[in-house]
Amino acid sequence: MDKKVTVIGAGNVGATTAQRLAEKELCDVVLIDIAEGLPQGKALDLVEAAPIEKHDAFVTGSNSYDASAGSDIIIITAGIPRKPGMSRDDLIKTNMNIMKAVTAEAARRSPEVVLIIVSNPLDAMCHVAFDTSGFPKNRVIGMAGVLDSARFRAFIAMELNVSVENTHAFVLGGHGDTMVPLPRYSTVAGIPITELMSAEKIEALVDRTRKGGGEIVSLLKTGSAFYAPSAAAVEMAEAILKDKKKILPCAAYLEGEYGINGLFIGVPVKLGKNGVEEIIQIKLTDDENAALQQSADAVRNLVADLKKLA
Ligand code: NAI
Ligand code: 2OP
Repeated sequence: MDKKVTVIGAGNVGATTAQRLAEKELCDVVLIDIAEGLPQGKALDLVEAAPIEKHDAFVTGSNSYDASAGSDIIIITAGIPRKPGMSRDDLIKTNMNIMKAVTAEAARRSPEVVLIIVSNPLDAMCHVAFDTSGFPKNRVIGMAGVLDSARFRAFIAMELNVSVENTHAFVLGGHGDTMVPLPRYSTVAGIPITELMSAEKIEALVDRTRKGGGEIVSLLKTGSAFYAPSAAAVEMAEAILKDKKKILPCAAYLEGEYGINGLFIGVPVKLGKNGVEEIIQIKLTDDENAALQQSADAVRNLVADLKKLA
């Protein structure tokens, strides 16, 4: 294939991301992990599935970053996931050190690459990748809003018994308990859900969305979600590889937009071949804006924690 995507971390999210990329025949894929044999084994398994799945995307596994050289996109999923009772923020120290090491190795070999960050705590890890890589802000993007919005969409579709394809939703803010689902901008066949459901029902779906990651952790008990997260990362990668100019909620570095400065947080962005090509500023009510600012404060606190740990 003429495009190459490296996925760092061959665990649940990383391996499923590699599988989705290959099966959509979007690019060749390189899987990298610190664990010996793991990326090689999963890559070979995926290659052996290709004749049945009918695609010619090649998947390579390696413990060396040399295999990632010249990637168009690098998706970073390396790190530890949550266990029951842990918040995403509990992962900060371990994942900060992993993110620094991984970004430095990857960025050096692919200086023009677009980075999609997945590891948690997401917004803080974007800062680590941004600072470590020295890349311009359009080439460091966090995956969270697409996942959180997909959860909201799934809950809306289940509640109204409609196709998920009819649903659209926007969840902005940080990827944590303060995330900001926006019912006014969430629609079914173009109709705002505020016209279709009671305020109490919407609040229940908003609450379930905010707690969506934790709901899966408490069911799985040994880790966190990976089917929907990998689907979200691949939707972002596809938009970039195909230069689709697709508007998706992603963590992006803001410099004054929404009154927020010097912070990664989830906002609607236009994704194309250059990564974040535009930050879309939508009108928020006073309450929505207050919720976004509160979420930004929570991310700022995490970024301050990073500085103390560094
Ligand atoms: P996992 O434990 O299944 O996989 C993580 C992989 O990272 C392991 O294979 C491990 O060997 C590897 N790894 C650890 N240190 C490494 C290093 N220094 N270099 C290379 N590889 C290294 O975890 P899972 O479920 O895949 O989750 C990965 C991360 O993604 C977690 O931090 C999790 O919280 C986060 N996540 C974020 C989401 C989001 O919405 N942003 C959604 C789902 C997960
Ligand atoms: C999620 O929301 C763990 O952040 C991850 O599922």
